Amino acid sequence: MKAMQAFEVELVLQAIEHRWGYDFRGYARTSITRRIENVMRRHQICHVSELIPRVLHEPVFFDDMVSDFSITVTQMFRDPPVWKKLLLEVLPLLETYPFFKIWHAACATGEEVYSMAILLQEAGLLERATLYATDFNDTALAYARSGRYPKENMVQAEENYLAAGGVHTLDNYYYAQGNSVEMHQYLKNHIVWANHNLTCDHSFGEMNLILCRNVLIYFTQPLQNRALELFAQSLSGGGVLCLGSRESLSFSSVASRFSVISSGKRLYKYKN
Ligand SMILES: C[S@@+](CC[C@H](N)C(=O)[O-])C[C@H]1O[C@@H](n2cnc3c(N)ncnc32)[C@H](O)[C@@H]1O
Repeated sequence: MKAMQAFEVELVLQAIEHRWGYDFRGYARTSITRRIENVMRRHQICHVSELIPRVLHEPVFFDDMVSDFSITVTQMFRDPPVWKKLLLEVLPLLETYPFFKIWHAACATGEEVYSMAILLQEAGLLERATLYATDFNDTALAYARSGRYPKENMVQAEENYLAAGGVHTLDNYYYAQGNSVEMHQYLKNHIVWANHNLTCDHSFGEMNLILCRNVLIYFTQPLQNRALELFAQSLSGGGVLCLGSRESLSFSSVASRFSVISSGKRLYKYKN
């Protein structure tokens, strides 16, 4: 298979947007091109002229393609120092509210959301919280909603949890079933799962904290601005935004509307 030309990539992305409404045109071109090429290689497709009819007419093929585009790598308590900072500097702000809302945008398979529920439980705040967890990948959302993970993942998760300031052991929060574990129902009760696409969907409520980690890196600056504008619209005054370790508000269209809580941990407070 020859390397794809820029106009061929554009044709594929237009076909996807036209037929399915998923707009990948604002994603970084190098990585989206690589992912299209991966799909073509996996399905032994040599030319874009063979790919486009399959994108247009085969829903299963398209779902498979979106799963390939959607990189769902995640971990419980990923980047433990960020969780420690959330515990020490953001939870005390949330504690001042009788009820509060948290939005996990691009939550993938949900580990970040259960981590937050555990952190809140240990701080005695879970009863006051509603956690909205969204992603545009329905397969990842179904997995997240089940709260079932491979047991072997719990080794790294436990290490992260303790480094993040966890005060018990992680197995307090799940029960084991063979080679899997399942998160306890009382954690799930506080989570609302929904499909939401950061390229085109709107704000759905006023949040006290938004986490959107490790997805803006795949977006070009205009699409990053779109997502960040959405977060600014969705935060209450004094609300907090948490981004991924390689993401930042600097140079974005909303930078002046936030103050910095921690630049290293990518934590920002909405001013008004
Ligand atoms: C690397 S995971 C990040 C998971 C978690 N936030 C973390 O940091 O561990 C990126 C997630 O972004 C989601 N995503 C990519 N583009 C999206 C979009 N336009 N709208 C919503 N979610 C998107 C993918 O489906 C994937 O689950």
